[in-house]
Order: sequence, then C-alpha cells, then structure tokens
Amino acid sequence: MKAIRGATTVLKDSAKEIKASVKELLEKIKDANGLAEENIICIMFSNTADIRSYYPAKAAREAGFFNCALYSSLEPEINGALKLCIRVMVLAEIGKDAHHVYLHGAENLRKDISKRLNIAIDGPAGSGKSTVSKIIASKLNLLYLDTGAMYRACALACIRANVACSDSESVKNILKDVEIEAKNVGGVQLTYLNGEDVSEKIRTPEISMQASVVSAHEYVRVKMVELQRQIAKNNSCILDGRDIGTNVLPNADFKFYLTASDEVRAERRTIENREKGINQPYSEVLQEIKQRDKQDKTRKIAPLIKAANAIEVDTGKMNAEEVAEYVLKRIHERI
Ligand code: DC
Repeated sequence: MKAIRGATTVLKDSAKEIKASVKELLEKIKDANGLAEENIICIMFSNTADIRSYYPAKAAREAGFFNCALYSSLEPEINGALKLCIRVMVLAEIGKDAHHVYLHGAENLRKDISKRLNIAIDGPAGSGKSTVSKIIASKLNLLYLDTGAMYRACALACIRANVACSDSESVKNILKDVEIEAKNVGGVQLTYLNGEDVSEKIRTPEISMQASVVSAHEYVRVKMVELQRQIAKNNSCILDGRDIGTNVLPNADFKFYLTASDEVRAERRTIENREKGINQPYSEVLQEIKQRDKQDKTRKIAPLIKAANAIEVDTGKMNAEEVAEYVLKRIHERI
C-alpha cells in the first residue's frame, strides 16, 4: 500500500469551486498513478479554515469515488499558511512509487516529494505530436511546450523584417534582438514575439515552411534550445518537436517518436487547415510535408531522427485519444 499526497487551492469558498477542484485533483491523482477505483482504500482530506461551504469528502463521493472510505477534517489556522487550500492523502494498493499531485496555488507546496518528469515527443509534421502531447499534459498535470511554435515565431520575425529565412547572417542579426516567449495560460500555450501574442499568426502554411528553413541555422537552434531547457529544468513537462529526445532533453524520462505515412499526415493537415479557414489543396499540403520532412531530416544540426531509446508509435490507424492511451500505458508501465 502507498500513500499518495496532493493538494490544490480554490479561487473562492463556494460549493461549486470545491466540487470542481476536488474532482480535478482526484482525477489527476488517478491518472498520474494509473489507479483504478478498486485500488483506492481511502481518501482523507483536510482543508484550511477559510473553506466552509462544502465537505471535500462529499465532493469526492459526488465525483464518483463511491467504494472507498472518505474523510474530511479542518486544519488549524496557522499564520502565513496558504489560503483556500485542500490537502489530500490517498491510500492505495499500488506496487510502484507514488506520484504526488500539487495543483494551482498549491503547486510549489511539496517540491521535495513531487518528482520532476520530462517527456520527449518527436516526429514529423502531422504525426499527431501536439494533440497527443496536450492530452498527456492534461492527464499527468504536466506543462506542455510546443517547441515548433518557437521556430515559427523566429520565422515570423524574419518575414516581418523582410529577411530571407535561408540567409544565416541576416537571420542572426534580426533574431539577436528578438524576444520569444512561450507562456502556458490555463493549459494553453501562447507564443509571444517581442511581447505580442502571435499564437494564431504563426499557423499558416508559409510560416510552416519558413520555420523549417530558419530552424536549420545554428544561431537559431542554440537560442531556442536554451529557452526550452530552461523551461524543462524548472517544470514537469512534455515537449514536442524534432530534436527533443536526441538533443534538447537527451536524459528525458520517456521518449516517443510518432510517425504516420506522408499521405495520412497530409490528410490530417489539410483538414486542420480547413478548420482554420485555410483552403490549401491536399496535393500541395502533401508536397510541402515531403519537402519539410526532407529539410528537417537532412539539416546538419540536430536533424529529425528517432532517438535510439525512443518508443516508435505509428499513429496512422489510431485517433489522438488512442495514441495518448497507448503512450500513457507505456509510461505507467515504468512509473
Ligand atoms: O512542429 P512544427 O510543425 O510546428 O515545427 C515547425 C518547424 O520547426 C519544423 O518544420 C522544424 C522546426 N522545428 C525544429 O527544428 N525543432 C523542433 N524541436 C521543433 C520544430
């Protein structure tokens, strides 16, 4: 039997907030530990004295935790303690190490027992990396970083400055004074170029192609990889890209390499484009995907290649949920 710890905070003392927060916390504890309900023996909550609207144990029962013992208690009022906080201890029958889950305002409470987890997802365009990474990030409570977005922002900066993305010296001149940031806002990544939110503007076919060109330069890669490593050092996270397992995080806890045929990937991208109002013909998308793959796989620095210890997943016949389920299964086999 293992004791799994966790905590979260609510924005205000209301029944609705408490119910939603307890449900989220328990679901994430289940996912992070690969728990089925029958593995859970009991769940004990404590909450700070500023929470009075609802029993967390009752919220747990209503969230579907019917078969285990549930218990709530009130914490003493301690000066300087975190406000509006719900703590939990789940006793469960698991053979593996417990994975503790700290959310929202409680995120930094127990850095000592919350193991940092880094997952690398690599693969070519349209292999399903970003959709799958987002599902896993949400289930395992990880920060998601789409590294491709950062190279896309570099390409946008060059295009705006009328500089050819292939011209290494000019690219360097432009990018040395450019600030690129990836911020996670409520689980969604926003990409900023000199403080401007360019998350939407970088999703055009032109930027896709130019990001591939600009990403071949050493200056660009060094600058972006430094930012990516900084984020990974400070967070449990899942990074998707082309060189995460081979170069950015060679010691990642888990590495996956997603593939699918050129045709399947082009079809997915054509549909995605259409949903965004971009009506690019399938044949053109296929052509661009092939060219981009070639560029990304043959560049000199950190080319797209499967890391020796990465698990390869052919996503061609699976939907995103199925791929995520498979990836999670492989993760739970080892954590
Ligand atoms: O994943 P994406 O389509 O948004 O990436 C756009 C381009 O950025 C891709 O064609 C190559 C480059 N890239 C890279 O070189 N390394 C990464 N880690 C991510 C993307």
